[in-house]
Amino acid sequence: MPDRLTCSRRDFLRTGAAATAALAAGLQVPALAAGAPAGLGALAKKAGLFFGASVADEVERDDLYRALYKREAGILTTDWALKFGNLRPDATTYDFRDGDAMLGFAREIGAPLRGHTLIWNEDRPDWLMALSNAERRRVFDAHIDKVASRYAGKLHSWDVVNEPFWPGHGLAGGFRDGPWTEAFGPDYVVRAYKRVMSVDARTRLVLNEAHAESVDELGGQIRDGIERLVDTLLDAGVRLGAVGLQGHLATALPYDWDVFGSFLERLAGRGLDIYITELDVDDSGLADDIDDRDRQAADLCAAFLDTALKVPAVKGVITWQLSDRYSWYRNQLLAENPGATRLPRPLPFDAAFEAKPMRAAIADAFARRAG
Ligand code: XIL
Repeated sequence: MPDRLTCSRRDFLRTGAAATAALAAGLQVPALAAGAPAGLGALAKKAGLFFGASVADEVERDDLYRALYKREAGILTTDWALKFGNLRPDATTYDFRDGDAMLGFAREIGAPLRGHTLIWNEDRPDWLMALSNAERRRVFDAHIDKVASRYAGKLHSWDVVNEPFWPGHGLAGGFRDGPWTEAFGPDYVVRAYKRVMSVDARTRLVLNEAHAESVDELGGQIRDGIERLVDTLLDAGVRLGAVGLQGHLATALPYDWDVFGSFLERLAGRGLDIYITELDVDDSGLADDIDDRDRQAADLCAAFLDTALKVPAVKGVITWQLSDRYSWYRNQLLAENPGATRLPRPLPFDAAFEAKPMRAAIADAFARRAG
């Protein structure tokens, strides 16, 4: 049975029914190029690393995408299933259905699951924003107690606090404003980790942040903030296992890999592991030619991973989705402009689940780490 569709793959996969029909026809996830039998998760494992991707309910609707995860992902991160806004439709309800579904999928493919994220100042359901600070403080403690207790022992790690910094908000220390900073001040960060520790003695606790990669002003502010906050957490006796650096790269941003590598070494020097937690490449601003965009995105990914994987404390790489088809960049663009035709191509697999040069760049980086 041919493993490739005769008609245009993009057209065929355009509808949800396509995936089911494709599997009914006995088609497989597009075969990798000859001589590349292992998925990225297996290649990472040979290098003593993990590789995976964030996951959401697309895998419940798209069987081909589900099969791609099975082949490529050795670890998963919940995209929105365990976010506050999704778990908590109102002040008295906890809806664990999505989180439990993602846990079930992770178990089905034999991959550990990372929980993302207990506390994030950008997660702002209206009902929470309407509460007083005193009421928010009660919600904060109860939420962490309930959710962390429920998933204790079931997750690889928790992004306990996500994106603590946003210097653009003008707060002392460059902290991100939002419902939790308003309720507690920056101390909400230590409180969150201590709260999890009080109900879950085992799960690895991770501090997750974006924008630490580039050498623009923001990148420098974020790196400084992360180092200060890590020291605050460690001095407070927090059982911090790793720092998650999101790795949302952009071809339009400036990078100096010596600067980034030194930052990684300083984090490692504190005895911390480092996870690349949300790798993708924003290719906006590049010329429209797809081959050129894919090559530049792959080259940037290669340079980044070359630096990151030289540091033994870097334990793995997780992309933010696996295929361009379901990238958050694409979703955001199409939500703003449904007729958009120049679509982002940020991930290792294109919208038809075909491997792109970025996949080879990631595989090569793992091979170099394996030595
Ligand atoms: C993104 C989701 O993937 C989108 O679906 C949503 O619209 C916005 O949030 N950094 C993070 C993630 O830590 O939680 C964000 O996820 C992407 C940026």
